[in-house]
Amino acid sequence: PWDTTRAAEIIAGLTHKEGPTLVILHALQEAFGYVPEAAEPMVAQALNLSRAEIHGVVTFYPDFRREPPGRHVLKLCRAEACQAAGGDALAAQAETRLGVTFGATSADGAVSLEPVYCLGLCATAPSAMLDDRVFGRLDAHRLDALMTEAQR
Ligand code: FES
Repeated sequence: PWDTTRAAEIIAGLTHKEGPTLVILHALQEAFGYVPEAAEPMVAQALNLSRAEIHGVVTFYPDFRREPPGRHVLKLCRAEACQAAGGDALAAQAETRLGVTFGATSADGAVSLEPVYCLGLCATAPSAMLDDRVFGRLDAHRLDALMTEAQR
């Protein structure tokens, strides 16, 4: 869960880094699973930037979550090679089964469905990630198995 004291420590430990905004935001997401709105003024103050600037960065990069993720995160590649290999049908399948659109978490809190734009696995498209594991050559059957695993 979000912890302001811990967040302040993380921020203080990274303000001297080069390009600190992204470094800090990534570290917060790593620690808490997301970057809540409450983090924005803290980061802004530490870096002498406006809150709007930090908000702009958080919302610009699809990598940053604004809400806590589900217990598992399923990322489907939505970039060109995977789309050409049937990615759209898999995306629709995942949305239907999980009952969410991309960027949301299933009602049972089990799975967050997120888009990703190329996993570097175009040769084995369509590709996906479940938590830290990557998968290529997905088809409807394999995607279904991944979702079953994630919903257990
Ligand atoms: Fe999907 Fe590259 S386009 S892995």
